[in-house]
Amino acid sequence: MSSPDNSPTNSPPSRSGDENESESETAADERQFAGDTLSDDSTNGNGRSSDTELEELRDDDFPTYFAERDGRLYQADSAASPYPLPVDTPENQRVTFLHKCLLEVVGAHYIGPVHQVLASVEGQQRKVVDLGCGLGEWVTEMARQFPHVSFHGLDIVPIATRYPEVNAQFELHDIGEEWRWPASSIDMVHARSIFMTVRDFSVIINEAARVLKPGGLFLSGEWLYYPSFSSSFPESRTHPSEHVPFLHKLYTTFHTILIQRGIQSPIAPYIADRLQSSGHFHSINPMIFHVPIGTWSSAESAQRIGRGNRAALKRFLDSIKPMLLQDSGMLPEEIEDMYAGCLAEMYNMQGLVSVYYLVSALKV
Ligand SMILES: C[S@@+](CC[C@H](N)C(=O)[O-])C[C@H]1O[C@@H](n2cnc3c(N)ncnc32)[C@H](O)[C@@H]1O
Repeated sequence: MSSPDNSPTNSPPSRSGDENESESETAADERQFAGDTLSDDSTNGNGRSSDTELEELRDDDFPTYFAERDGRLYQADSAASPYPLPVDTPENQRVTFLHKCLLEVVGAHYIGPVHQVLASVEGQQRKVVDLGCGLGEWVTEMARQFPHVSFHGLDIVPIATRYPEVNAQFELHDIGEEWRWPASSIDMVHARSIFMTVRDFSVIINEAARVLKPGGLFLSGEWLYYPSFSSSFPESRTHPSEHVPFLHKLYTTFHTILIQRGIQSPIAPYIADRLQSSGHFHSINPMIFHVPIGTWSSAESAQRIGRGNRAALKRFLDSIKPMLLQDSGMLPEEIEDMYAGCLAEMYNMQGLVSVYYLVSALKV
């Protein structure tokens, strides 16, 4: 079985006499120091594991988190998580493209009152949890911006950097299961592109509501996964199946398969309402971003974003192909025809955009 190209999350405990090992020991020392100074939940007395009870992964543990099918790597525990996409290098590159596109489009790694919520207060350790953190890019960049805050990235597979910032830590956890922090102990929960990790998004909303302090911030970001047009194009006023029938069919098929697998899909347009109706949040602020696909815009920055987003969409097509082959009921040659049509639309249709929903909400 091939192993993921990205470095694993945690380095094993080092033995003496090896240069690399002594480097990892230094990193471990720094993490330990961060643990001493940044962590205030070393004993929580509630049966949940604390920072100091976490175990480092051994080298030979890594392969057990992955399963290989048809040349792609998936998370191994398909009974635990319904997550249908691969977790290997091509898929991680897709996620990285989107991470970069979003930074340019949104202008920051967040919306909402992040600076107020994470303001430094004497005697208090601010804490942020990132759900389904992947490679840990959001955590890493936020940890640099907010060096007084302790960041915790959770993922079901060990793909995050093995060299985290001193105020960041990556942990293996199925986010569909209870998180390890006690009630009212976290300042901010960030959840980006994670709707396929659980069948019922309420699990995420309820756990976020439990661990957040009153006034704590929940920040959700999800893609719509449906073809749309920039509002300055006449195509935006008619049904997308008229202009991009192949992409329309692709996305419709994708959502149908997710629904068959018990995953609520699409969820992005409904998250703000779900937060409202949970009764746990106030000051709910939804924002919608249109991210160009391709180079149709006259603005140079939008062209750059459009190239990155198109590259991400091509990888998305690759990542979902095994799902379509297995569950769409389409013949392989029908899928190939649909893919050829999707590519032609992605390269030729002016005004084509992906739609991204960001929602910030404060815990009651
Ligand atoms: C599309 S990626 C998003 C990564 C990151 N949040 C971002 O936006 O850059 C989804 C991530 O969720 C992780 N994942 C899937 N099922 C999970 C689960 N049940 N618990 C925790 N993480 C999960 C995957 O391994 C993958 O890294």
